[in-house]
Amino acid sequence: MGRVIVVTSGKGGVGKTTTSASISVGLALKGYTVAVIDFDVGLRNLDLMMGCEKNIVHDFLNVAKNQASITQALIADKWVKNLYILASSQTGNKDDLTTQGVSKVIDALKKAGFDFIICDSPAGIEKGAKLALHYADEAIVITNPEITSVRDADRILGVIQDTSKRSKENKSPVLEHLVLTRYQPTKVKNGEMLAVDKIVTMLDIPLLGVVPEAEQVLSAINSGRPVILDKGTDVSEAYKDIVARLLGEDCQQRFLTEPKKGFFSRIFK
Ligand SMILES: Nc1ncnc2c1ncn2[C@@H]1O[C@H](COP(=O)(O)OP(=O)(O)OP(=O)(O)O)[C@@H](O)[C@H]1O
Ligand SMILES: [Mg+2]
Repeated sequence: MGRVIVVTSGKGGVGKTTTSASISVGLALKGYTVAVIDFDVGLRNLDLMMGCEKNIVHDFLNVAKNQASITQALIADKWVKNLYILASSQTGNKDDLTTQGVSKVIDALKKAGFDFIICDSPAGIEKGAKLALHYADEAIVITNPEITSVRDADRILGVIQDTSKRSKENKSPVLEHLVLTRYQPTKVKNGEMLAVDKIVTMLDIPLLGVVPEAEQVLSAINSGRPVILDKGTDVSEAYKDIVARLLGEDCQQRFLTEPKKGFFSRIFK
């Protein structure tokens, strides 16, 4: 049965869509079949990050409202096999999305046999975000290393279990994972950012991974090519580690401390 994973946050702009895109690509590269859904009705972004904005004919709302079938709406990813994107509607209204509509889409994807269904949620605890949480088996909570973002992550953690269908059906609780993005060890050392340990203690959920702050993320977004596809950068490695941990592989946390400076950079700093 497919794993439904929602990528969520309290505060906006923390890296949910960037993470959804890279995790989906990473899982597909490992041979799993993956569908990634943009739940941000009216503000679609995922299609741009995947570079498929020109291929959208039907969208998530069309399927939810019986105006198109799931096979008509899924867009085959141009970067990897086994990955399909369900774009959000740019013109639709958030209120057009209903529990029944979302249920129809998730059921269709499960029936189609996808191994993973990744839901890129809007931020916060409004209707769209709650609908994205409703069918989740697992939640990846994204936060940045700053107090407002962590406090808002804490608020969303309170909402996850209450909102989920699993708890209403008395099933085991939604599995929660923490991903810390835009981490800057130098700023942590200088006391300008919160340290990873402190955040894990505050939120009290298992750490799936830490993604360093990196310029490549913006260029990846601008070129519509998920950053995990870059070769050998810290940020692409961090996302590969996250994918491996999602698949139960045991890999040590990295990118928590400042990279060691070489001889010349120390001399000529
Ligand atoms: N590791 C990173 N390093 C540098 N910049 C990053 C990183 N991750 C995300 N960003 C930047 O943060 C911004 C927001 O990213 P993204 O759109 O993925 O966030 P979001 O949580 O999906 O936002 P929203 O709540 O609006 O949906 C982007 O401009 C992106 O370039
Ligand atoms: Mg987003």
